[in-house]
Amino acid sequence: MNTEIFNAKTQKENGTNYAGRIIRSGGLVAFPTETVYGLGANGLDGEAVRRIFEAKGRPSDNPLILHVAKKSDVKELWSHVPDNARRLMDAFWPGPLTIIFVKSDIIPDEVTAGLDTVAVRMPEHKTALALIRAAGVPVAAPSANISGRPSPTSAEHVINDMDGKIDVIIDGGACRVGVESTVITLVGKPTILRPGGITREMIENVIGEVDVSPAVLRPLKDGEVAASPGMKHRHYAPDCRVVVAEGSWRRAASIICREYEIADAMGERCVILGTEQTRSCYHGMNYDIIGDRDDPSSLCAELFAALRRWSGKVDVIFAEAIPESEQGLAYMNRLLRASGFNVLDR
Ligand code: TXA
Ligand code: MG
Repeated sequence: MNTEIFNAKTQKENGTNYAGRIIRSGGLVAFPTETVYGLGANGLDGEAVRRIFEAKGRPSDNPLILHVAKKSDVKELWSHVPDNARRLMDAFWPGPLTIIFVKSDIIPDEVTAGLDTVAVRMPEHKTALALIRAAGVPVAAPSANISGRPSPTSAEHVINDMDGKIDVIIDGGACRVGVESTVITLVGKPTILRPGGITREMIENVIGEVDVSPAVLRPLKDGEVAASPGMKHRHYAPDCRVVVAEGSWRRAASIICREYEIADAMGERCVILGTEQTRSCYHGMNYDIIGDRDDPSSLCAELFAALRRWSGKVDVIFAEAIPESEQGLAYMNRLLRASGFNVLDR
């Protein structure tokens, strides 16, 4: 299949209107959002949604998020709109928050993987909103990567994974947030299933105490049922080992220096994902400064791009753990999964 590539700036309305028609008629379009690039299809068309799973090689038991362009669209997608959902939508939509609630009858089983709940989000990216409006239907969209790889935060990442497999890629430049949306379920006690740019602290300011699923920072135990099917699959893995060092920045940097020397002596190609605070610790080594430990959102914005930059070019990536407060929780969730929970703390 020939994949058409549009530039969101130069081909503005023509491009999004055309891409919207492609979605409505059953095709696949990759598009920028403020979090990561999405791979969109008509969310009311089970056949079109099946094509997303094929293009990504995604396990069919992993449900998708429906993307809407206005808040009132949730009325058709959920059985009803609970009070705390309304408060969250008013506080954070458009933006990087996905809300799960009991689904209505119009939603095909392909979207929800047979669950009786559905995830909905209104993105804030202008191109995403224009595309959803042009499609005139809720747009089902997972991240636009081959399943298991780091999520795409630039059109180049999408092209690497999806060229020849989908109809259109809209290039809207780099994604601002860089990690996927926060996912919260409002069925039962509100629980964060995946941390993201909208933090637990921000959510608790609006609806009071919420739980965070324990699987956010550790692997599922044998026989444990995943609150979100996405938790049980391998994620964000580059084509090399990833090793995480814990502790204060001094401690983490000294563990990394020691392990780097050992790996280097064995002939392994290494890179360190460092921070402004630790730059001077890695003198003479191969390092890549990806952000500031005092601003975890800067690390979130760069993590997936850095994993893709070094994937296949080195044998091992070393990275520092950071505190799990605010956006640090989202960063550690992605980094730990990328490493397969390979953590050094000695
Ligand atoms: O930022 C984002 O959310 C991006 C952009 C494109 O919007 N999308 C995204 O989609 O990250 P995806 O499919 O890669 O991640 C959706 C996550 C998965 O972990 C899935 O298991 C979970 O949401 N999910 C979706 N529907 C669910 C449901 N009904 N119950 C529990 N988990 C659900
Ligand atoms: Mg994904």
